[in-house]
Amino acid sequence: MYNSMKRSSWYENTVFYEIYVPSFCDGNGDGTGDLKGVISRIPYLRRLGISGIWLTPFYPSPRVDNGYDISDYRDVDPAFGTLADFDMLLQKAHQAGIRVILDMVLNHTSDHHPWFRESRSSAHSPYRDYYLWEKEIPCNWESFFDGNAWEYDDTAGMYYYHAFSKKQVCLNWSCLQVRRECAEILRFWLDRGVDGFRLDVINFLKTDRSAFGFDNPVENGVMRHIYDKNQKGIYDAIKEISNVVHAYPGKYLLGEIGEDDLYLIKSYVGEGLLDSAFQFNLGSMEKLDVAYVAEQLRRMEAEGVYPTLFFSSHDMRRHFNRLCGKDLVKAELLAVFLLTAKGIPFLYQGEEIPMEDLPVESPRDLRDIQGRYGYEKKLAEGEGEEAAFLYARERSRDYARGMVDWEREKYEDSLVCAYRKLLDIRKSHLSLCMGEYGEIRQQGGLLYYQRIWEKEKIGVYLCFGEGSLTVPYTDVLYEVKDEKGRIRGILRYEQESSWCGAYSLEPSSSE
Ligand code: BGC
Repeated sequence: MYNSMKRSSWYENTVFYEIYVPSFCDGNGDGTGDLKGVISRIPYLRRLGISGIWLTPFYPSPRVDNGYDISDYRDVDPAFGTLADFDMLLQKAHQAGIRVILDMVLNHTSDHHPWFRESRSSAHSPYRDYYLWEKEIPCNWESFFDGNAWEYDDTAGMYYYHAFSKKQVCLNWSCLQVRRECAEILRFWLDRGVDGFRLDVINFLKTDRSAFGFDNPVENGVMRHIYDKNQKGIYDAIKEISNVVHAYPGKYLLGEIGEDDLYLIKSYVGEGLLDSAFQFNLGSMEKLDVAYVAEQLRRMEAEGVYPTLFFSSHDMRRHFNRLCGKDLVKAELLAVFLLTAKGIPFLYQGEEIPMEDLPVESPRDLRDIQGRYGYEKKLAEGEGEEAAFLYARERSRDYARGMVDWEREKYEDSLVCAYRKLLDIRKSHLSLCMGEYGEIRQQGGLLYYQRIWEKEKIGVYLCFGEGSLTVPYTDVLYEVKDEKGRIRGILRYEQESSWCGAYSLEPSSSE
């Protein structure tokens, strides 16, 4: 079980902000985001009060999957700037007290990467073994984006393996030289001064070729990805990565583990492994379900998982639409939750102003590879255009990837002041950063928890349902009111639990 002593690491007291570089801020007027744009927003981020940023890939790439298909790990794509811009960004962020972690994609490279060009060119190439080549398709594995995971390559006269698009070729992590190259890439960025990495789909690393001997089960036409991830040898690979990164004191290693099973997620975190891992069980819930949130908080406590807290990212719909139905009160309540529950918050760019999902209304709006492929697949299967579009729209990840509209910061309905104030309160209250939970309770639409650090005890009351709060209005640090003036959320110093009678379906006296 994590205890309070453990949480002395900087990252456990950091509020991160995910910057999806292509759509965060345009610094050169070409209509898309870039590193100069990020630099220009550092004063804003500092004022907001965040203390870490996660930069999504900005490396040279054909951008089939918006940069998650890297063709050069040691440079910046000209569309996003230069290495000098990156160094400037790092320097400015550090001066502003903001740490920077980079997204690192070690599971696959672009098919434009020189390693792959070399690898396919000849069976005798020293790079042949960098990827996974087979004479025949060895198993039924499907890719997560576009059908069969095995693609025939004319030049090599063999099939190669890709867990994502066929333009994202999986590296062979049982090849010693691949591991050495990846270690050097990590050192390249560590030497430049980055504070850590977010390791993309890291439990998918192919560490065991013998797994190709097993077909994945298919249930009701849907493949269960069993043998193509969490392979034998994966922990050794992660230990090696961890050794490289942690040889640099104070660096942070966060993993994207594509699993719902907390026990499995937890197995990747600890001494000599990852420092933390995303838990999608809470973050990607489809509907705002307060009972489910309370259950997940309790489960993470019981499993001894130190949570990552987020409801939005570049891979899912914005929670302002998905969970709040564009209701500002709910969005503010969720902001209180993200910044006061136990764990490391990861805010997604623009949620504080609050940005809405990009409309995806016709096939022309499908830009994401997952959506586009879904559309083409359904058409090829003989579906009509509308049915194909509806299918593709569900799979598309375009929604949260629209350019952030910074004008929204000035709008009356902007939540930015709420986020700023909450971040400020968090900074000056150790119980909210390092505290253990006291009680966690839920009743209908009401969620209540206490955070406790030494003598400081803070109670958080969040009323997502129709009722309003009737908690004694004393020692209040923050409140959320709805448009009728009813109190819907309270953050207060707690003497005793005020749970009894905290919740009323009647209008409260403050009305
Ligand atoms: C990233 C996605 C990307 C995928 C393949 C994910 O987890 O967040 O955006 O498409 O990895 O690299």
